[in-house]
Amino acid sequence: MKVLGIESSCDETAAAVVEDGKKILSNVVATQIPFHEEYRGVVPEIASRKHTEWILPVVMKAVSDAGLTLADIDGIAASNRPGLVGALLVGLTFGKTLAAAEDKPFIVVNHMLGHLYAAHLDRDIEYPYLGLLVSGGHSIICRVTGFDSIEILGTTVDDAAGEAFDKVAKFYGFGYPGGVAIDKLAANGNSASAKFPMPKIDKSADSSGKAHRESALHRYDVSYSGLKTAVINQLDKFWNPEYEKTPENIAAAFQETAVNILLSRLFRAVKDTGISRIVAGGGVAANSLLRARLAERKDLECIFPPLKLCTDNGAMIAGVGYHYLLRGDRSPKTVSASPRVEGFRRLGRQN
Ligand code: KG4
Ligand code: ZN
Repeated sequence: MKVLGIESSCDETAAAVVEDGKKILSNVVATQIPFHEEYRGVVPEIASRKHTEWILPVVMKAVSDAGLTLADIDGIAASNRPGLVGALLVGLTFGKTLAAAEDKPFIVVNHMLGHLYAAHLDRDIEYPYLGLLVSGGHSIICRVTGFDSIEILGTTVDDAAGEAFDKVAKFYGFGYPGGVAIDKLAANGNSASAKFPMPKIDKSADSSGKAHRESALHRYDVSYSGLKTAVINQLDKFWNPEYEKTPENIAAAFQETAVNILLSRLFRAVKDTGISRIVAGGGVAANSLLRARLAERKDLECIFPPLKLCTDNGAMIAGVGYHYLLRGDRSPKTVSASPRVEGFRRLGRQN
């Protein structure tokens, strides 16, 4: 079954054709980065307008790159949440309309399920595993037992991991997207130049029952607003005066703590659940320190998608779409877009 996947949740207009949820026949990603760069962040209105301009040529290129015509496509999938609603609506409406015009089955896909599926496009992965979903808008640690069967163990209580990279980079003018810029700078910096505090949301402030319940609730949750504030507003407080405050050193010290926050919660989940297989996804899964740290853990099986499948793409949407369509799931014509992951304690089929 050949599925066309459409992705337009943020600043990439993307489409791909994937066969049987595995074989990528084409993968077209038109990045809008140059149009948002001067604002050091994504401007939603520009994103929607660019998607509107590019969606038709991107989809048609994906079909022709696959060596196919629309008649050969067996189903169409589009992401409909979470993301910028104006941006999502472009790909979603385009996909729905194309499906209606061509009389093809249509299904919506949760963008985060797409990120989780990205690694499955590269190799066969057995369930269960722990998912580490880290993007510009979300940080999720979850137990995964099927392509749409996810139990959220922890998430962020404030900023997402990628958002922290983006905001620190924006403040210091390191470049956009922030994660890539910080990753590059950090390679030539010293992470010992500052020691930023780890979040304490999982530690009870006193021994009262309420505080204990609170800390148990946050056992796998992450927080990035404290780190962001420390790096942006309190750098002197945590800086080691033996080091120069270069962009490289700031980036390295920030990245070290940002990665440690994720890993501390992930390793706790490994210990508690006894699950030693980890699958990462989302833009931050491209981070070289995160990848290196997980690679060091020989007792764990850590699976990352290839770099080009970490960030937004249509192939991951087509991959999840295939499994829904195979099962007979279809989305109604009235299906709409949403900025939220939805439900949040439980991802999965929503429409
Ligand atoms: O998954 P994605 O392409 O879009 C969303 O769904 O948000 O992720 C984009 C995020 C941005 O915050 C970007 O700064 C971050 O992923 N990112 C990275 C790296 N590459 C992209 N963060 C850390 N290190 C990287 N190498
Ligand atoms: Zn994404």
